[in-house]
Amino acid sequence: MNSSSVSAYSLADFFFPDSDDPLMPSQDFADWRRETSWATSLYEQSLVNGPVPRALLMVDNTPQPVINLASYNYLGLAKHSETIAAAKAALDRYGTGACGSPILSGMTDLHRELEERLSQFVNREQTMLFNSGFGGALGMLAGLLRRDDVAILDAKSHISLIDGAKLSGARIALFEHNDANSLDALLTKYADRRRIVVTEGIFSMDGDMADLSKIVPVAEQHGVGIVVDEAHSILTCGENGRGVTDLFGVDDKVLIKYATFSKAFGAIGGFVSGPDRTLDYLRYYSNPYGFSCALPPSVIATILTSLKIASRDNSRRDKMQENSVYFRTQLNNLGISTGNSVSQVVPLIIGSDQRLLYELGLELRARGLFIPTVDYPSVPEDSLRFRASITSEHTRQDLDEALNIIEDTVVRRLKKKQ
Ligand SMILES: Cc1ncc(COP(=O)(O)O)c(C=O)c1O
Repeated sequence: MNSSSVSAYSLADFFFPDSDDPLMPSQDFADWRRETSWATSLYEQSLVNGPVPRALLMVDNTPQPVINLASYNYLGLAKHSETIAAAKAALDRYGTGACGSPILSGMTDLHRELEERLSQFVNREQTMLFNSGFGGALGMLAGLLRRDDVAILDAKSHISLIDGAKLSGARIALFEHNDANSLDALLTKYADRRRIVVTEGIFSMDGDMADLSKIVPVAEQHGVGIVVDEAHSILTCGENGRGVTDLFGVDDKVLIKYATFSKAFGAIGGFVSGPDRTLDYLRYYSNPYGFSCALPPSVIATILTSLKIASRDNSRRDKMQENSVYFRTQLNNLGISTGNSVSQVVPLIIGSDQRLLYELGLELRARGLFIPTVDYPSVPEDSLRFRASITSEHTRQDLDEALNIIEDTVVRRLKKKQ
């Protein structure tokens, strides 16, 4: 890292802390956190009116109006009158918490209804609900894989999938991002082992998609089952929002579909859908499922209503996609690289200058734009970025104002650097 960096260190340097007590990270870490607090003030910021396009963000204890390009409320369902009314009605009927794990006492008729509706929606035999998306990914892979197995994941897979595979004790083999030859080589290398292939619908940091037209046939040739994480693609892609497996016309070839409710559904939690035999097994071997409280019924009512609204027609999806194309095209016209994004997840790739990234982050916020700053090790050191999430709720005026701010700040600074 060069001398103009925010610091000589990054989070990656403190994973093995130089301290005698696990409960007390090193003084170096505390010093680093203090020294970089101006930059990390861009993290864990508080919105005071929810994930809406024109939001209020607490800055120095004062609510500041911002254009919000940071929330996953892709279809605007987190603040939809019908989802809110459904949650309120469920609160009145069921109270605030499920108060038990799904196995022992946390299940309600609403949970069962959602399982069934999701199974119908994604055309799978059975569905399990998890109280977090992360926990669902973790619990699915740790529940199904065993020590002698091999989890073959796309190298850009979300950390919840990697952690799930790690927890299982299985060998983890990463194939080069979207590279069917690399996948083929790993499937061949581990041909004598039980294997699964894991990839994502829309990749969360890059906004590109799994190339299922190439990945699926390779897995099929080897007779190996595929899991697709549709966290960002459920409700946003494919006919009726069934995800990328539908978009690529390979849905019947993908055994397990996993997704979260924290994005387009505007709620919280995750689900796994697949064959009866797999799910019957998983229910009893997935600890984040069996040993953690079920989702509150009010959340289930929200999700059921989101599913209903998003299944009515494609209008919200179409608007989100139209907005995404517009925003990406305008950024590219301004000379900003959006990598391989083809979706509502739009990275603004800045490069390797970490100080510039954080200075710009503060400048963008001061100008009224809320857009996440993404640093190494979450993304490669040479492609630090801002990541925009575009929704159906953004108006052309929201996007144009955001683009003007970006032009005055990011574009100006990047040009100066050249
Ligand atoms: C691809 C992917 N999978 C899983 C998750 C975890 O989901 P959740 O945030 O709902 O826990 C995320 C979170 O952003 C994600 O991007």
